[in-house]
Amino acid sequence: MIKEKLKGLILGGGKGERLRPFTYTGAKQLVPIANKPVLFYAIEDLVSCGITDIGIVVGDMRAQLEKAVGDGDRFGARVTYIQQEAPLGIAHAVKIAADFLAGHPFVLYLGDTLVLGGVATFVQHFRSDSSNCRLLLCRVENPQSFGVAEMVDGRVARVVEKPRQPASDLAVIGVYMFDGHVFEAVEQLQPSARGELEITDTIQYLIDKGLAVHAQELDRYWMDTGKMDDILQANAVVLDALPARQEGSIDSASQVQGRVIVERGAQVTNSILDGPLIIGEESHIADSQIGPHTSIYHHCQVKGSRIANSVVMEYTLIEDVGYCIQDSLIGRYVELRGEGGVDDRRYALTLGDHSQIRAV
Ligand code: DAU
Repeated sequence: MIKEKLKGLILGGGKGERLRPFTYTGAKQLVPIANKPVLFYAIEDLVSCGITDIGIVVGDMRAQLEKAVGDGDRFGARVTYIQQEAPLGIAHAVKIAADFLAGHPFVLYLGDTLVLGGVATFVQHFRSDSSNCRLLLCRVENPQSFGVAEMVDGRVARVVEKPRQPASDLAVIGVYMFDGHVFEAVEQLQPSARGELEITDTIQYLIDKGLAVHAQELDRYWMDTGKMDDILQANAVVLDALPARQEGSIDSASQVQGRVIVERGAQVTNSILDGPLIIGEESHIADSQIGPHTSIYHHCQVKGSRIANSVVMEYTLIEDVGYCIQDSLIGRYVELRGEGGVDDRRYALTLGDHSQIRAV
């Protein structure tokens, strides 16, 4: 059985409470991982699966997402935006996308999910098998934080959302495949105790109806980038996998070691670049030490400072900071000015967009 014309549905709404302060001012799906918004990985992955008709469910941050993604043309996709009035659950997002999906089988991709190497092989299975739903599972140390699958005789017997006492360590990751039966399921659902229409209850409905819910363990790195630490980890893992690329300029007084990416228009002078790292378009780095595992996004200026294992977002200025900035997530348009000198201490900073810090 071949499932014809899969569509894609990416969720770009939600509250993003675990990513405050960034989500006060920005969509969590636009946080950059190795200088690319996490949402773009999902779009590119769907396109690489041959899925180009993509709906993006949006909430309060619609304008930002639309500005970043546009009509999808640059990805080779056609994007339709679907407004969700409030974050009433992942299954609610599916329900309001019913007109767009028009009964087609589809891949549901949570917009803060990153799968290194993509999901094309799994989607290929779904295309050609007789399943009504396909889940991807991954063993985790903290199953309490995820939807958890209980397998019996190789079949999915139960799926429970964030159980206090998980029946297994198999987390359901944020990429799901459904055929048209899911629309009946979401119509029947009642809100959970936390007031959401749960995707796990949707899947349980399909199981209870005797439909074919298949699951497969993921054989590659996956991350839900919904929390601070996860972003730094995902950033490091993606940087580890990227080849070196130099499109900007590095002067002869600078030293480069490891895999370094310097994007178009970036300038590095008298600095140590300790890869893996990425310096974004039009960013200027002077008299500084950057890396390893560090992403500086575009239009940033870093002078006389040291930054390791961190993500710095666009248009940020960091100048003469004596201590080493490490394990930090620094937002957009931040100004961080120190007094110079070299201080042995290390600081882990979480600075929301437009933060200003200066020595007085
Ligand atoms: O990461 C995998 C986990 O994702 C699964 O194991 C869980 O079963 C599933 O519920 C989900 O848990 P999260 O707690 O990570 O879900 P979160 O509220 O962060 O929402 C996931 C994405 O969907 C995020 O990009 C925001 C978006 N979203 C969420 C809700 C509730 C919407 O667009 N609309 C919504 O109403």
